[in-house]
Amino acid sequence: MKIAILASGRGSNAEAILAAQEAGQLGNARVNALFCDVPGAPVLGIGARFGVPTYQPPAGVFKTKFSPEVELAWAQAIRETGADFLVLAGFMRVIKQALLESFPNRIINLHPSLLPAFAGLDAIGQAWRHGVKITGCTVHYVNATVDGGTIIEQEAVRRTDDDTMETFAAKIHAAEHRLLPAVIRRLSEREAA
Ligand code: GAR
Repeated sequence: MKIAILASGRGSNAEAILAAQEAGQLGNARVNALFCDVPGAPVLGIGARFGVPTYQPPAGVFKTKFSPEVELAWAQAIRETGADFLVLAGFMRVIKQALLESFPNRIINLHPSLLPAFAGLDAIGQAWRHGVKITGCTVHYVNATVDGGTIIEQEAVRRTDDDTMETFAAKIHAAEHRLLPAVIRRLSEREAA
């Protein structure tokens, strides 16, 4: 399984994947490439630190999606790296036809809630404001419905009385950093079997 990570921001989940790979804990998966749609995003430095080639194809005029032409160019650029599996790790654009058809059933996404609760933007803030006692994170296959594809795995996180928004978010991020590399490992081992 040759992975392209797609990320937009801080990159802590890309870092967790690459640290797992370095520690020999990513099964038969190998990260080939890191694609970023935001110029200067911190995740680019993480790719460089782990010696993974980073790519920044033009992202076009939209902020939360690609135009069909731009998405096709991204699909071709990703293919050219040899990657055959996409991991969206904090990638803040909606994936549509061109990428879905280029990598059928081979795109997974990380989301910071227990889907189907709190889909969409600011899932952690949504959960905090709603006052839920249990939330968490989800890894799911990507399909044409935003945050709606088949759920692969979830980890639950409990909100405690002493939590602040910051400690609450930190617990969810820590769960994400465990969950995503573990799912990649499991999928890669299943594929190799
Ligand atoms: C993560 O919490 C991830 O679940 C979320 O963005 C954050 C990226 O953090 N993704 C979404 O909300 C996707 N809808 P990171 O840049 O530190 O990995």
